[in-house]
Amino acid sequence: MDAKFWIEKWEQQQIGFHLPMAHPMLASHWSALGVERDAHVLVPLCGKTLDLVYLMSQGCHVTGVELSPIAIRQFLDEQALQADSIDIDGMPVATVDGLRLIEGDFFRLSPQALGSVDAVYDRAALIAMPPDQQERYAQQLLALTSVSVPILLVTLDYDPSEMSGPPFATPREQVMRLFEERYEVDLLERLDVLADNPALEGRGLTGLTETAWHLKPRQPKPKN
Ligand SMILES: C[S@@+](CC[C@H](N)C(=O)[O-])C[C@H]1O[C@@H](n2cnc3c(N)ncnc32)[C@H](O)[C@@H]1O
Repeated sequence: MDAKFWIEKWEQQQIGFHLPMAHPMLASHWSALGVERDAHVLVPLCGKTLDLVYLMSQGCHVTGVELSPIAIRQFLDEQALQADSIDIDGMPVATVDGLRLIEGDFFRLSPQALGSVDAVYDRAALIAMPPDQQERYAQQLLALTSVSVPILLVTLDYDPSEMSGPPFATPREQVMRLFEERYEVDLLERLDVLADNPALEGRGLTGLTETAWHLKPRQPKPKN
């Protein structure tokens, strides 16, 4: 999907992916990652998700990255937050205590601009990309977190012959292919969520599962 696709979705407020609460799998599984308070958490492709608020409530410092200025404005307005504006690498950044919202293309973000990261939370970011862009997304994520950090990843899976994304079907094999070189991939929870997603059912799906994955950094191999 190109930037124009998402910018227009926000302009037209076609944001069926947005939830009115923090994602239940975040609340259930964040503690499994063992992330300390004060940790710096990266939330790629964050939209205006209330997951940002949840992570802040856990004492984390959070950086969200989002293309759409409308999403960022709505998040700040809805949370009644007064943000300062700075610029990082030519991208506008809204900053409030414990939160930075970088407005721009995730693929343009540099590790220097982001700073060191302790954990990543991805819900509806990887799966917003078609399979041929997911590889590029995963490479960028790994480049931004040069020392491996834990990742809580939430994906959807369905029969791709029934519907074209977004969201894109992302089965276990794809998660393994993208991450297993640097991560052990642990399945935390898988739920049948078709009934909770009538819009996707209306697009033709007869089955839909949602999965929370804990990507655990592999220990570096000892040198001989
Ligand atoms: C499916 S939505 C998910 C939003 C959020 N993670 C949530 O759970 O509500 C994907 C979001 O990624 C943003 N996006 C898409 N491509 C992007 C990119 N290359 N860089 C930054 N944001 C992007 C879109 O504007 C959209 O808000």
